[in-house]
Amino acid sequence: MIIKKTLEQIDGIRKAGAIVAEIIASMAEEAKPGNTTAMLQDVAKTVLDKYRAKSAFLGYRPGLTMPAYPAYVCISVNDEIVHGIPGSRKITPQDIISADVGVRYNGFVGDAAATYVMPNAPKKAKRLAWITYQALHKGIAAARDGGKVSDISFAVQSFVEANGYSVVRDLVGHGVGIQLHEDPQVPNFVDKMHDAPLKSGMTIAIEPMVCENGYATVTTADGWTVKTADGGLSAHFEHSIAIIGEKQDILTLLSDGSEPYVPQKVL
Ligand code: MF3
Ligand code: CO
Repeated sequence: MIIKKTLEQIDGIRKAGAIVAEIIASMAEEAKPGNTTAMLQDVAKTVLDKYRAKSAFLGYRPGLTMPAYPAYVCISVNDEIVHGIPGSRKITPQDIISADVGVRYNGFVGDAAATYVMPNAPKKAKRLAWITYQALHKGIAAARDGGKVSDISFAVQSFVEANGYSVVRDLVGHGVGIQLHEDPQVPNFVDKMHDAPLKSGMTIAIEPMVCENGYATVTTADGWTVKTADGGLSAHFEHSIAIIGEKQDILTLLSDGSEPYVPQKVL
């Protein structure tokens, strides 16, 4: 069931979303060679505590057969696509680091992600992050009252494939706001089987996961980390947005309205 939100509820989601954005921006500063992925999570915890907000991921159970997610945020490095668990892994100067953050605050949930690019990452990694960031914004621009979810999917997929990359099929974007995962599903590829109409008041998380090579995935022994099957690099950007008529209201921006992390432009 799709839950349409009132303007008051959308502002509640925006408050949760601003905390998400502050965490993404703060972790970006800590994402430096030599630091561990657990250190990024510590930054996230500090911001959560400052607002007395909760992680929307910690303890999350997508199905009864799945283990509860054991961390506050997801940190996925290089060929890890999503759901990486923070730990003792040290960031190298060549890495790309995808950070995914969900915050629950005053009964509302915001969800966003960004891929941080380390200074000596190969040019192909920098370009992958830049294309994925742009793909997110193509998807956002395609979300309009009276349209369909597949308008978003088409905008993302066609842009990504025209740039020589692939979109992940095994994971999708989603409705968001009251729960972390609400209807509808928002695939990054055109899927006429899951193609809900878009209406004003809908709040959705658009989250292209883009691979330099193939889009097939494997899950590691920790039960959570999703990697590319072929070992190629992957990047992930996500925002939670509200659809208001022809306009899109991005709900996971910093409180001054700016983006929490923008990758370097690479042609
Ligand atoms: N942004 C991701 C999603 O929407 C994060 C989920 S991590 C989990 O699925 F731990 F909550 F599952
Ligand atoms: Co999400």
